[in-house]
Order: sequence, then C-alpha cells, then structure tokens
Amino acid sequence: MEILTDNGTLATTLRERRQRLAKVIDFPVILWSGQRSPRNFSANLYPFRASSHFLYFAGLSLENAAIFLHGGKLELFVDEAPPSSALWHGEMPKREAIAQAIGADAAFPLSELPSKSTGAATIAVQNATIYRQQTQILNRSVAPADAAEGIDRELAKAIASLRLSHDTGALSELRKAAAVTVEAHKAGMRATLTAKIEAGVRGAMEHVIIAHNMTDAYGGIVTVHGEVLHNEQYHHPLQPGDLLLADVGAETSMGWASDVTRTWPVTGKFSPTQRDLYQIVLAAHDACIDKIRPGIEYLDIHLLAASVIAQGLVDLDILRGQASDLVEMDAHALFFPHGVGHLLGLDVHDMEDLGDLAGYEEGRSRSSRFGLGYLRLNRPLKPGMLVTIEPGFYQVPAILHDPEMHSKYQEVVNWERLAQFSDVRGIRIEDDVLVTQEGSEVLTAKLPTDVDAIEQLIQC
Ligand code: GLY
Ligand code: MN
Ligand code: MN
Repeated sequence: MEILTDNGTLATTLRERRQRLAKVIDFPVILWSGQRSPRNFSANLYPFRASSHFLYFAGLSLENAAIFLHGGKLELFVDEAPPSSALWHGEMPKREAIAQAIGADAAFPLSELPSKSTGAATIAVQNATIYRQQTQILNRSVAPADAAEGIDRELAKAIASLRLSHDTGALSELRKAAAVTVEAHKAGMRATLTAKIEAGVRGAMEHVIIAHNMTDAYGGIVTVHGEVLHNEQYHHPLQPGDLLLADVGAETSMGWASDVTRTWPVTGKFSPTQRDLYQIVLAAHDACIDKIRPGIEYLDIHLLAASVIAQGLVDLDILRGQASDLVEMDAHALFFPHGVGHLLGLDVHDMEDLGDLAGYEEGRSRSSRFGLGYLRLNRPLKPGMLVTIEPGFYQVPAILHDPEMHSKYQEVVNWERLAQFSDVRGIRIEDDVLVTQEGSEVLTAKLPTDVDAIEQLIQC
C-alpha cells in the first residue's frame, strides 16, 4: 500500500471531517474498512476497496482495519503485516506510519477494538465476514445500512449530511477522476474505427484509467445495445449503423469517482435519425445543466428533462399531444425510464448503501409512478453537491412490446413513425455537475457533447 507524503494535507482534511462529525453527534462511532473476497481460493483475491464511510474519515484503503471516532478524535485499529507477508507482498507500512499519514490520535492492534465497543454506532459493511465481526464486537444486532435503526441510523444521517457537500480535499480528487475519465472517453472515440468489437473500445478506455493508476468506479458499459441500461457485455461486433454507448468512469486511488456517458456512431457519422434523437437528449442535458443552482429541486430537473424529451418527440411526430400532459401520464418514460441522475462522490451512486436516506430529503420517499420510480435523488440542491445529469432515449423491447404499455399509450405513440428510428437502440449523455454558490460547474465539460465535435474526435 502506498502511503501519501503530502505534507499533512490529507491528515488535515480528515481531521476537519471528524471534527464536523463531532458537531452533529455526541456518541462514539466505529467504522470498519472491510476485507478482500477470494475468487476461488484464498491466495487469489478480488481487488480490495475499503468501505466508503471508512474511506471518508480514514483516507486510505486499509484492509482489515477499523477506526474509532469520538469527540473529533480518531483512533486506528489495524494489525501489522506478519513478517512472512513481505516475501509475497513486499514491506507493508507500519501501523505508526499509517497513523501519522491519516492524522490519527492513537493506533492499536485490532484485538484491542472490543474495548471501545460500548455504546458505539456503526454502519454495516458489505463483506459478510466483517459484518459478522461488527455484530460480535458490538455485541448486538447491526441492521444492513439501508435499514439502520437507533444510533446507527442517526450516524448514517450525520455522515450523509457531511458527505452530501464535498470539501476541498474531496473536490480535488473528484476533479482528478473527472479529468482522467474525459481522456478515457476521447481514447474510446479514437479507437472506434479500428475496433472490431465493443471490448476493443472498452480496452482503449480502460487503458487510460489504468495508466493513471486509477480503477473503474463501476463496471464499465461499452455497448451497441444501449437499451440495456447497465449492459456489461462486450462481445458484440461494431457494425455500420450501430450507435455505441459508453458509460465509463475512473476512480482515484483514494476512492473518488467520476461517471460519464457518451454515445457515438461506430462509423464516425450519425445517421439523420440518430442525429435527430441525439439532439433531443442533448437539449434535455443542456437545459438541465443550465438550471442547476443552489435551492433548485432535483425533482424539477428530472421533470424538465422529461418535458424536453417529450416535446422533442412530439416535434418528431413520435409522440402526440402536449408535452406537459405526456409527462403527467409518464409517456416520456416509455423512452426515458430512469431518473435524470444521482449523487456522485466516493460511490458512483453516492451513499446508496444507505438506501434513499442520502438521496431523498427527510420525509420524502420514492414515487410508485412509472416516470418517477427510478429517481435516485429528490432534494433541493446545495453548494458542494456533485450530481450527474444523464438523460437518455432508449427503445427497450420489454417496455415497448409490453401489451399493457402498448394499450395504455396506444393513442399517444405514433408507432409507424417510431419504426423509422430503428437504428437507435439507446442514447445517453451524462456529465458530472458540481453545485456552486453561484450556479454550477461541469467537471467533465472538456468532453464534447455536440455531434460535430464527437464526429471529429472519432476521425482523429
Ligand atoms: N454508471 C451508472 C449510472 O450512470 O448511473
Ligand atoms: Mn450515472
Ligand atoms: Mn453512468
């Protein structure tokens, strides 16, 4: 593990975070980092990535570690690597060196953690072995994070309130992730004319991420079947007439994510029908970003995207009626069935381990409406929040061929006209937008969205 020598900047950032936590809760907290999972046998492990709540306060992706937070102080609990591990894994930093890098007030072996357990709150980790350890050490049940109760729920709310608005340290990392992601997408565009299958483009994109010593923030989507929203297959050939949808984001070594989507033609030229639908999605993307500022409701941003898409489809004679009526009856969701975006930070869907506790303002819950049910964020925006804006247009067979949907929307869809757009299966345009005091800043703005610039990048 690499220990940062940054003149104490990391330690200062982390100290400020735990002091902010101490202002909103007065009980002690233990956060576990988690451990690696074996692929099939114990010496072949999946890459390790610490729990995001741990990372937020501890900064480094330490395996099998825990932190005790109380009154603005941090105590680190981690074992020294056994001498035998140096042969296979190299010398590991000593506990004291790690403690110094993260500005810990004290550091102990893991075996001493139980002495801190009385009255401590926690957040459940995803790893099952460590989850069992949490309940054993705290000597009580610990609900999964999205169903936390009592002090665990209070802790989840307190951490969410901190992590909702990014501090300078977080923003510096998020900007690095965004910059590398932009380069990865440009590399993907440049690789398209010579790639044979989706994996060829994916490889070019992930090459950039890996070469910057970063990882994917989530399973990359690089597909000619963009109608499968989280498609993770890469074997399809790139054939003339296909649009390629690439949703790929880098994550820095400290765990901060980016999340970007572009859609481009594999031949380097959009067809007229692809161009028409692309312009509608782009109009929704631009209109939403234009409206982002403190105080605006994210739900209204989502409804704005829905309304621009509905109007665009009316203008193309694919939908019939008034945009406002179409949105009211969720007709736009036939083609734009997901939310316009989500929080972004240490997790690509930031803090989604807490269910909707971070994404939804207290007292609000998910709508059961077809057009609103997948909205992951429903809060007024505040400075320091980082959100994605990612409208799309998709022809999802499971929606459009569903007899119930077909009959419900029979009158408002011009099915014959829609059939003329069969060379568009999925388009999404996604950027990472920071809410500032004055309005917004698109962290991924250096990656073009307009048709001509994208066509040019493919030819480079
Ligand atoms: N990359 C997943 C998403 O855009 O939500
Ligand atoms: Mn996203
Ligand atoms: Mn995405």
